[in-house]
Amino acid sequence: MQDSEHIEQLDQLDQFAQLVELVAVASAEFARINDAAQLEQAKARFLGKSGALTELLKGLGKLPADQRRSQGAAINQAKDRIEAALFERRELIKRVALDAQLAAEALDVTLPGRGRGRGGLHPAIRTLARIEQLFRSIGFEVADGPEIETDWYNFTSLNTPENHPARSMHDTFYLESSPGVNAPGVLLRTHTSPVQIRYMQAHVAQYGHLEQMPEIRIIAPGRVYRVDSDATHSPMFHQVEGLMVGENVSFADLKGVAADFLRRFFESDDLKTRFRPSFFPFTEPSAEIDVAFMSGPMEGRWLEIGGCGMVHPNVLANGGIDPERYTGFAFGMGPDRLTMLRYGIDDLRLFYDGDLRFLSQFK
Ligand code: DAH
Repeated sequence: MQDSEHIEQLDQLDQFAQLVELVAVASAEFARINDAAQLEQAKARFLGKSGALTELLKGLGKLPADQRRSQGAAINQAKDRIEAALFERRELIKRVALDAQLAAEALDVTLPGRGRGRGGLHPAIRTLARIEQLFRSIGFEVADGPEIETDWYNFTSLNTPENHPARSMHDTFYLESSPGVNAPGVLLRTHTSPVQIRYMQAHVAQYGHLEQMPEIRIIAPGRVYRVDSDATHSPMFHQVEGLMVGENVSFADLKGVAADFLRRFFESDDLKTRFRPSFFPFTEPSAEIDVAFMSGPMEGRWLEIGGCGMVHPNVLANGGIDPERYTGFAFGMGPDRLTMLRYGIDDLRLFYDGDLRFLSQFK
């Protein structure tokens, strides 16, 4: 073997050794890295365009043909190994990241749910629902009307003309005429009684042509307004209007319906009702409805819970109904008063304070 050949062989061995070392260095470097981006940077250093291996490949061209083959194969083998090491590390980093993500996002399905606070119905609304249910069970429908009323429906049609002294008991909130808004005689209704007129008119429009008009039996629960505010009065409060109109409807029907309703509302046979003569412009005769409990803390005390009477002929006529043929009774109750009695609440303002310590007792 000539010297020059010998040297060539040694050179080649040296290059193989370099390749083995390069593979070892690359593998060791990949193994140190735990971050995907850093790994890609390291890849560029070994396999990239100006990476260590690429440089070696570029050098191949200068070698004699026989060496080029073996050297080329050796470089490619080294490249495969480095790529394998890279692939393995890349997969590992991915797996670790996925594991970490799964651990971080893990749901403990055995934990109790957080839930949402459950609301409850306001005691005033509970009472209205109860009243509706009880009246529906005896064939009454539930009707309603606007809270912003005209003077005519709220007063005049109910036999309470302008300057009638009964109007002063219903001091209310009038809507002002302002530029662009023409609202003379428009007010927040002081009672639910205007629903009587509105309902009669609608009923007549629908059934007035019939030989025999079906009976009217309605209640009309809703909000009403007055300029009033103390422990037992609030500027907004609730009323439930009742109206029954037909042939031969009498005061006896009124007494029966009202007394029966109150006994069922308070779930007590131990209850007395009294109809105390009174005055309302829209009824004749008129009465206040009082109740007294025969036991418990309120025993024997008469409490006023509403007004009632036989519908005044003028009111029937304003509703479009012939007062010669039909008669009717009406009542107006304060359901807030009923709620206070039923739950033993002594201050009406509690209803409207929004205090959860009070409200949550009715959940
Ligand atoms: N509207 C009356 C008020 O608010 C209550 C009332 C009394 C209604 C007698 C009626 C009734 O229907 O007949 O004071």
